[in-house]
Amino acid sequence: MNALERLRQLYFAYVDTFKVDGRLPPMMELKRIHTARVVDNARQICAAEGFDPHTTEICTLAALLHDTGRYEQLRRYNTFKDSDSVDHAVFSHDIVKEKGWLDALDAADRDAILEAVLYHNRRDLPDGLPPLTDTAAKCVRDADKLDIFRVLEHQIETTDWRTDATAFWNLRTDLPPNPEVIAAIKGGRPVDYQSIRSLADFVLIQVGWMRNGLAFASSRRFAAARGHYAYRRKFLLDLVGYDIDELAR
Ligand SMILES: [Fe+2]
Repeated sequence: MNALERLRQLYFAYVDTFKVDGRLPPMMELKRIHTARVVDNARQICAAEGFDPHTTEICTLAALLHDTGRYEQLRRYNTFKDSDSVDHAVFSHDIVKEKGWLDALDAADRDAILEAVLYHNRRDLPDGLPPLTDTAAKCVRDADKLDIFRVLEHQIETTDWRTDATAFWNLRTDLPPNPEVIAAIKGGRPVDYQSIRSLADFVLIQVGWMRNGLAFASSRRFAAARGHYAYRRKFLLDLVGYDIDELAR
């Protein structure tokens, strides 16, 4: 059995321990599905970027493990909100390490995976990482963002967000984008999360990711080909009359 298959079994056996009466609680099931999609995205990025088999395996393992801590976070704190509980990337890193799942790997491979998990939700990646770590971290971050694009659209399509403010954390849905957010995206800078006042701002963060926040050209192509840019353009035009094509002008 190869490392990937062995790790997959260990990971899903761990996830199974959170089942109640044979099923995962619905919020955890969403994370399980998210993880499977992030793994899939990571594989597609590796293929498109022409990574060698070893790099592909490390990236795929990091993707599989990136949200390991989400299940325990929800069980313990009943929330996925890191600011109300734990930093779920640190939590994931610590659980993977403590379980010893990567102990059979070379130190360099183990560190690359653990650090990719640890850094996956940071606004910026530290400089000077070893090349394998840097690649794995970028791949997981891109793969994660690509699925977060899907999740937002799913949330818009499946909730009563127009009448239920809690669908988007009580963000105002009627406000135009904050000029600070627009300026950051135009300037190629990461958006300061403090400047998020409305649903429009929240959606714009993701447009910023598409423009400046994806590390690999293939990730940017996937985002466009899957219609994520077009979806946000139509959504913001309908919602507040803002045209995201304006960001490129
Ligand atoms: Fe995450």
